[in-house]
Amino acid sequence: MKFGRRHLDLVQGYVPGEQPQEEGFIKLNTNENPYPPSPRVVKVLTRISPDRMRKYPDPVFRRLRQKIALAYGVRPAQVFVGNGSDEVLSLLVRTFVDPDEKVLFTYPTYVLYETLARLNAVEHEAIELDAQFDLSEEVFRSSGKLFFIANPNSPTGKPVKSDVIRRLCDSFAGLVVADEAYADFSDTSSIPILSECPNLVILRTFSKAFSLASIRVGFALAAEDVIADLMKTKDSYNVNLLSQLAAEAAIEDIEYMRENARKIVQTRERMSASLRGLGFTVYPSGANFVLTKYNDNASPLYEELKRRKILVRYFPIRRLENCLRISVGTDAEVDALLTELGDIVRSGQ
Ligand SMILES: Cc1ncc(COP(=O)(O)O)c(C=O)c1O
Repeated sequence: MKFGRRHLDLVQGYVPGEQPQEEGFIKLNTNENPYPPSPRVVKVLTRISPDRMRKYPDPVFRRLRQKIALAYGVRPAQVFVGNGSDEVLSLLVRTFVDPDEKVLFTYPTYVLYETLARLNAVEHEAIELDAQFDLSEEVFRSSGKLFFIANPNSPTGKPVKSDVIRRLCDSFAGLVVADEAYADFSDTSSIPILSECPNLVILRTFSKAFSLASIRVGFALAAEDVIADLMKTKDSYNVNLLSQLAAEAAIEDIEYMRENARKIVQTRERMSASLRGLGFTVYPSGANFVLTKYNDNASPLYEELKRRKILVRYFPIRRLENCLRISVGTDAEVDALLTELGDIVRSGQ
């Protein structure tokens, strides 16, 4: 790096899952929703007036904040909105962690947490999940400034109950960030304990259950003082007008999202049973994807599926070498995956 800050020489930036630009792939690699967003979103985006486009959007996203607050039973001042929950994760590190303070997370989990710690040159520690990818007791003895816990976790799909999050909030002196990007596909949520946990930050996103990954809207629910700090550090207009309008329309039609989530959960359970039938271990999932373990390195399976135009996620990292993470698609997409995977496994390719 010629002009970059010195510590960045040693940091690899986050590498998102593949987004192929050619057509024809069945895309089961980045946990997008296979169903379209609410028709109300499409309607509002096609009717936007040129006069509104000309002006800056509301910098503090008042209407969206109110609608989120109403939908989740909190006060508007407890809601922060970001350009995807990834932006909120980044702001959390920038806002709350000094260079000599520590960010914690489990291993394995969403790789961005470690990347953000490295990019911001703060300390970090990964606490190993146990053999079944469940939390170990060490988590409750840890100390630091921010603890990122994805719930359900990615890439394992495993959810933890809200009393476990409450226990972590009680034992941890810093902020506990429950990243609930996938919570709509599970029966776990930390929202009911938010009022009892002043150090809890809950992250949600419109990218998964709301089928709006392209509009980049995520939000945090937390105590008012935590939200006020995030409002101070964000860019002036961090959520553009189109995204604010789309998210407002989606949340007004929350029942549409819940119905899609129910469909995806049904397909997930059918897909998990069929994968077990093919000889894979499948971890119980509360998300719109499953982690499957094969009895050998899974990289050739990933490559062969890709050759057959089906994209899944392979993580070439410790403990996941034998695993594939497969997003839940439509029933037809999942049938195609099962057919091809069955064929590959049987033919020993
Ligand atoms: C655990 C987790 N958190 C956050 C995100 C980011 O979501 P967003 O699209 O809101 O930035 C993802 C995306 O895959 C994720 O898996």
